[in-house]
Amino acid sequence: MRELAGRAAFVTGGASGIGFALGRRLAEAGMKVMLADIEVDALKAAVENLRNIGPEVRGVACDVTDPVSVEMAAKASFDAFGNIHVVCNNAGVGGGSGIDDISLENWRWVLDVNLMGVLHGIRTFLPHIRAHGEGGHIVNTASMAGLNSGMGFSAYSASKFAVVNMSEGLATRIKPFGIGVTVLCPGFVRTRITESGRNRPARYGPSQKPDPASSAGTLAAQIAEMIKSGLDPDDVAAQVLTAIRENELYVFTHHDADWRGELEARFAAILAAMDKAAVRQAERLS
Ligand code: NAI
Repeated sequence: MRELAGRAAFVTGGASGIGFALGRRLAEAGMKVMLADIEVDALKAAVENLRNIGPEVRGVACDVTDPVSVEMAAKASFDAFGNIHVVCNNAGVGGGSGIDDISLENWRWVLDVNLMGVLHGIRTFLPHIRAHGEGGHIVNTASMAGLNSGMGFSAYSASKFAVVNMSEGLATRIKPFGIGVTVLCPGFVRTRITESGRNRPARYGPSQKPDPASSAGTLAAQIAEMIKSGLDPDDVAAQVLTAIRENELYVFTHHDADWRGELEARFAAILAAMDKAAVRQAERLS
């Protein structure tokens, strides 16, 4: 979508971190912006903060785990701005990893926000964008954790792998309608993701912290340190704006040898397993 000025965007998780930075960049590009978030006080502050960029920044309370809440937030956006063109399904929570440490409620919470939240955004806005026919772009926030298994056995990685896959599948299906898709796969970014428990609804049970002495606890501490010294969310948002304009499917914010190496090792292991299967099949047939 080359022309953003005068058009309208909807951003979930818009009160903090990457979502807030996206909201600011989209507003600076001349778009009307609806920030949607479950954390209402932070949302009010975020809207206030962006007011100097333009009067067309608004906020709406929204819990992405609830399809009705997303539909109501969409309706508020249509009422405020008319047609919506850019939808950023960005809200997400971190939920730790480990086989024994993570409850079923924790799995459900992380999957409901990170995976079902993205689905609810797509299901709600895609028919609208197709119907108005003015073109559009959907941005789904995944993670590098959606491409490699460095986080081990975790709901977070499972949710992000799913978001990468959904985005790739969606891109091919909606290209003919002039609607683009970007899947954002950041490495570590300086946000409040390690404090995700602040927005955990009571129905998912209490927040869980892994035993600091366990391997999951050590991994969580390492990740927290890397997030503290992570990329500025504004850098991430700038790359997303370019991807929207250039209609690019993937955004990778981290691409040094370590990040590439993890991907290369995974793809090499998959291809090696395929080669082995081919050799065994040839042996069976001979
Ligand atoms: P953040 O914690 O600063 O922002 C997340 C926002 O999502 C918050 O405003 C929060 O209130 C909102 N949110 C949480 N649950 C919600 C719900 N049920 N409904 C609506 N809003 C909800 O964290 P950050 O890092 O900005 O997270 C944004 C996205 O970036 C997430 O999808 C996260 O998984 C992803 N990401 C973050 C990375 C990082 O290093 N910070 C790395 C890779 C991906």
